[in-house]
Amino acid sequence: MTSSMRTQPDKGFRAAVLHGLAQPEKRIPCQYLYDQRGAALFERICQLDEYYLTRVEIGLLDRHAGAIAAEAGPRARLVEFGAGSERKARILLAAMESPAEYVPVDVSRDHLTQSLADLDAGFPGLSVTPVFADFMADFALPPPNGHGRTVGFFPGSTIGNLHPSEAVEFLRRAARVVGQDGAMLVGVDLKKDEAILNAAYNDIQGVTAAFSLNLLERINRELDGNFDVASFDHWAHYDAREGRVEIKLVSRRRQTVRVCGRQFRFDLAEPIHTEYSYKYSPDEFRWLARQGGFASSSTWIDDQRLFSLHYLRPAATAVDGTAIP
Ligand code: TRP
Repeated sequence: MTSSMRTQPDKGFRAAVLHGLAQPEKRIPCQYLYDQRGAALFERICQLDEYYLTRVEIGLLDRHAGAIAAEAGPRARLVEFGAGSERKARILLAAMESPAEYVPVDVSRDHLTQSLADLDAGFPGLSVTPVFADFMADFALPPPNGHGRTVGFFPGSTIGNLHPSEAVEFLRRAARVVGQDGAMLVGVDLKKDEAILNAAYNDIQGVTAAFSLNLLERINRELDGNFDVASFDHWAHYDAREGRVEIKLVSRRRQTVRVCGRQFRFDLAEPIHTEYSYKYSPDEFRWLARQGGFASSSTWIDDQRLFSLHYLRPAATAVDGTAIP
């Protein structure tokens, strides 16, 4: 394994929490849900009956891997935005013609190490080059090594966790990363019956609640917090007008909590917003992709119309970088 690991993030957690809890509308960015325990709980979410997203996306990848590999071409380099779903990357790599390199990009060393261990075992000829970076900011790819097309992979409907304007910014940056000859494969959850969506984010066993509440436990563990976790509820609900699931933690009583020596007051029923999960119709997402500088090349959807996979190519641009109308 070659390594271009860079030292960076995770001291952001303290700053993000202290800033977010001091806002009139309290919020903590969703990336901090995934410490080691959070990542393990999220793995369990992905196996729940109610959480159809992972299952259906893997089904789509299995079914269309040949078509995706044909679009990618020989000796492609697969760049995954976020690590931790090597099962999905593996399906693509197995179908691709002599893939040259797999580049997982993540802020978590734990996630990277895990996906490396898993992939090194299965693909002896492949170079696996982790990049330790926040893919929401600019980052550099490893130097070219005779590979073919660079194909970015952003599965899990993680793009739905960005506000649409951030999703457009993300795609613009991704277009620069994959280059004019590159492509992006993006997994996007579809708009659908509210009951299905609400069940996916409120599973009966309470795994999703435990995942959400782990954020408060993480604050207690890492930031000398004293959250009484039992006095907060996980709350998730699909807002059809906004086209998104809203996820928050709600205080069951008036209380004061201490984090890093600072006090934060909560009213009865006051929320900490943690995440949105936007859902897009195929047309809405293709529109969003266009704003991000991509033209849609193929879209694959399962028979029940639960989930979509979009294969995107950078839209044609003139030499000076302005879009051709
Ligand atoms: N990307 C996942 C999604 O939007 C993240 C997620 C699933 C999540 N369940 C959650 C985030 C519950 C917070 C709480 O589906």
